Amino acid sequence: MAQLWGGRFTKDTDRNVYLFNASINFDKRLYLQDIEGSIAHSIMLEKQGILTLEEKDAIVKGLTSIRNDIENGTLEITDKYEDIHSFVEANLIDRIGDAGKKLHTGRSRNDQVALDMKLYVRSEVTEVDELLKAFQKILLRIMEENIETYMPGFTHLQKAQPVTLAHHMSAYFEMFTRDRSRLADIYKRMNTCPLGAGALAGTTYPLDRGYTASMLGFEQPTRNSMDSVSDRDYIIEFLSALSTIMMHLSRFAEETIIWNSNEYGFIEIDDGYSTGSSIMPQKKNPDIAELVRGKTGRVYGHLMAMLATMKSLPLAYNKDMQEDKEGTFDAIDTTKECLTMFMQMVDTMQFRKDVMAKSAMNGFTNATDAADYLVKHGMPFRDAHGVIGKLVLTCIDKNKSIDEMSIEELKEICDVFEEDIYDAISLKTCVEKRLTTGAPGLKPMKETIEIYKKYLND
Ligand code: ARG
Repeated sequence: MAQLWGGRFTKDTDRNVYLFNASINFDKRLYLQDIEGSIAHSIMLEKQGILTLEEKDAIVKGLTSIRNDIENGTLEITDKYEDIHSFVEANLIDRIGDAGKKLHTGRSRNDQVALDMKLYVRSEVTEVDELLKAFQKILLRIMEENIETYMPGFTHLQKAQPVTLAHHMSAYFEMFTRDRSRLADIYKRMNTCPLGAGALAGTTYPLDRGYTASMLGFEQPTRNSMDSVSDRDYIIEFLSALSTIMMHLSRFAEETIIWNSNEYGFIEIDDGYSTGSSIMPQKKNPDIAELVRGKTGRVYGHLMAMLATMKSLPLAYNKDMQEDKEGTFDAIDTTKECLTMFMQMVDTMQFRKDVMAKSAMNGFTNATDAADYLVKHGMPFRDAHGVIGKLVLTCIDKNKSIDEMSIEELKEICDVFEEDIYDAISLKTCVEKRLTTGAPGLKPMKETIEIYKKYLND
């Protein structure tokens, strides 16, 4: 048990209190950010004449050796220290002596941890964005291959109108595009540097906060020192963005599970991405999709926990805020793992085009087009809707689809029908006639694909 703040105390902390208070077991993940921030801080201190060149060089060398030793496994981060900040500082002092004791000049662990978390979250925002982009590339490939793969589109999980697999995949592409733009917003808004805010009220040392901010890739320093150490908005925003990504993944997972069911049979999940049953030899389960759906709740939970943790905190730093880490780390790990697993499963799964097309052909997905046929022959849409409703009832009675009805049978219901009705309600026509922007017809889909290609290349 080694404390940075022992001076004021006459007695050691109780062991259990020490462990209750410590964060090293989880904030050790921030060692890189902590060292990077400390290097920038020491360089700035030297530039401002607060450290000598020799002291700064010794600090930078010492910190670099600590980073290398952690990375090559010769230095283990143990719970002998309260948190990662104490660990790095104590190790630095062990290695370089007195110069190490000057590193913390004009700094508090409050602005230090605020910086570490910001650096960490900022780089994770980029990593999650890259995963989404990789997934979009897979979706685009599937779209290009399936621009004429017909399938039923659903509302209320009931067959509604025919679409294409490309069109369906494009819907997810759009969701991930919005997710990525949310991440870009978060990155931009959070990109201010809290280092130099001190404990809460800045410092009397002549720090150059703009200098550290630009060294660490921030747009500018934060403007209010109290807000700097008590702001966790960017974490909440990121958790919210992750929750939305998981919600999108979970909807995709749910569809995969439905499509994989014996009743639908739209897809074949690759053997490498599904699992069996210990008792039922015939089983091939969509476990990845189910886990993604399940883990979504866990990520939502972390968002709720963070909002609740922050809601009554007075300014500025309070130890409650140490609770920002475990949930955030878990939400990030979970989302990244789900994205990786799920996109690989989608990339390797087979689409049973014949089953999809057959499914689109029954279930009256062309009923709207049959009504539109009557409208084109002068009937008001509401009347046409009624006629086709009656036709559907008759079809159900005869156990036939609309296009299986003979022209005589059709004429019995409405004499407007002519031979050209069969072409007007064929699957191909139903899709191809949908030419409005964003519709599944060939032309708008090709345009969409071009837009996506450009977007992914930007
Ligand atoms: N482990 C702490 C955290 O994660 C670091 C900041 C400690 N600051 C303090 N005043 N005790 O929030």
